[in-house]
Amino acid sequence: MSTSSSAAPALRVAVLGVGMMGQDHARRLASVINRAELVAVSDVDAARTDAVAAEFGVRAIHDPMAAVADPEVDALVIATPGFTHEELVLAALAAGKPVLCEKPLTTSPESSRRIVEAEAALGRQLVQVGFMRRFDAEYVQLRGLIASAELGRPLFLHCVHRNASTPPNFNSAMLVLDSVVHEVDIVRYLTGEEIVAVRVLAPRSTSAAPEGLLDPQFVILETESGILVDVEIFVNTTIGYEVRTELVAERGTARTGLGVGMVTQTTAGWGGRIPADFKERFESAYDVQVQRWVDAVRAGTIDGPGVWDGYAAAAVCAAGVRAQQTGERVEIALGARPA
Ligand SMILES: NC(=O)c1ccc[n+]([C@@H]2O[C@H](COP(=O)([O-])OP(=O)(O)OC[C@H]3O[C@@H](n4cnc5c(N)ncnc54)[C@H](O)[C@@H]3O)[C@@H](O)[C@H]2O)c1
Repeated sequence: MSTSSSAAPALRVAVLGVGMMGQDHARRLASVINRAELVAVSDVDAARTDAVAAEFGVRAIHDPMAAVADPEVDALVIATPGFTHEELVLAALAAGKPVLCEKPLTTSPESSRRIVEAEAALGRQLVQVGFMRRFDAEYVQLRGLIASAELGRPLFLHCVHRNASTPPNFNSAMLVLDSVVHEVDIVRYLTGEEIVAVRVLAPRSTSAAPEGLLDPQFVILETESGILVDVEIFVNTTIGYEVRTELVAERGTARTGLGVGMVTQTTAGWGGRIPADFKERFESAYDVQVQRWVDAVRAGTIDGPGVWDGYAAAAVCAAGVRAQQTGERVEIALGARPA
C-alpha cells in the first residue's frame, strides 16, 4: 500500500522468498502498510515467483541476487529459509540496502557474528531481525512493568510455547532453533539482559509426536543477573497455538497470553478460542513490526531488534542444542559487542 502522509516517495520493497511467511509479508506490504510499496517478489522457485507476482501485480525477479541489486528496489524483506540468510543479508549490506530479515538472523553464531562485523564496518544499522513478539502489546506492557520495578526485581519467568503439530522433518534440535528462539529473544527484550547459560530436560515424549522427536522439552535459561527462565516447548499438543509468559517478581506476578478475548456461554459450557497458529495470534504484531520498520528505514535507521540481537539468539540456541544433546549446563560467551 503506497498511501504516503508526507511528500517523500513510498519505500519500494521486494520480498525474497515467497513461501508461507513471504506471501504473508507481501500481502501485508501490498494492502496494510503505509508509506511502502511492494514492487517485486523473488524466489528460487520460478513458478512460485510468477504466481505471487501476478497475484499482487508486481515484478517477478527470478534471481534473488538480482533483486538485491535492482536499482528500483529500496529495501528488502527476507523470508527465505534460515540457511540462506547469511548470503542474502551480506549481499544487501554490500549493496547498502535496508533489510527486514525473518528470524533466525542465521543458523549459527559464527555466521551471525560475520553479519554483526559486516554491519559494524559499514557504520550504520541496516538490518532488522523479525522477532515480531517485541511488537505485541502484551509483551510491551510486561517489559514496561519490569522496567518500572513496581513489583520489585524479577525472579522467574515461566514461558509456555505450544503448537498443535509440526511439519514433516521437524527434528528435536528445531524445537530450540525454530521455536525457543522466540522465547530467547523475548527474554532478552523483557529483562534487558543477556542469557549466560542454558540447560534442557525432557520428559517422555507425547504419543502425538512423530517417532524420534523429543517433544515436549523444558529449556532453562539463566540471565546475567540471575533470573531463572523455564520454557515449556511442546509442539504436538494437537490443540492450537498457545504462547504465555508469567513473571514472578519480588512483590507480585503478571501473566500475558491468556487469550481471554471473547468468552462465550452456551449449553456446551463456557469458553473462548485458542488461535490456530502464530499468524492469527501475532497478526497485529507483524503489522506493527513492518510499519515501524518501513518508517524507520525511510528515516535512515531501524526500529527493533538488530544484528546483535540476532547473533545473541543464535548463540543461545546453539548452546541450547548442545545442552539438549549432552544433558549438561552450557555457558554462553558472546564476546565483545562492536561499538
Ligand atoms: N516470525 C515468525 O513468526 C516466523 C514464522 C514462521 C517462519 N518464520 C521464518 O520465515 C522464514 C521463511 O519461513 P517459511 O515458513 O515461510 O518457509 P517456506 O518454506 O514456506 O518458504 C521459503 C521460500 O523461500 C524460497 N527460497 C529458498 N531459498 C531461496 C533463496 N536463496 N532465495 C530466494 N528464495 C528462496 C523457497 O522456494 C520458498 O518459497 C524462515 O526464516 C522462518 O524461520 C518466521
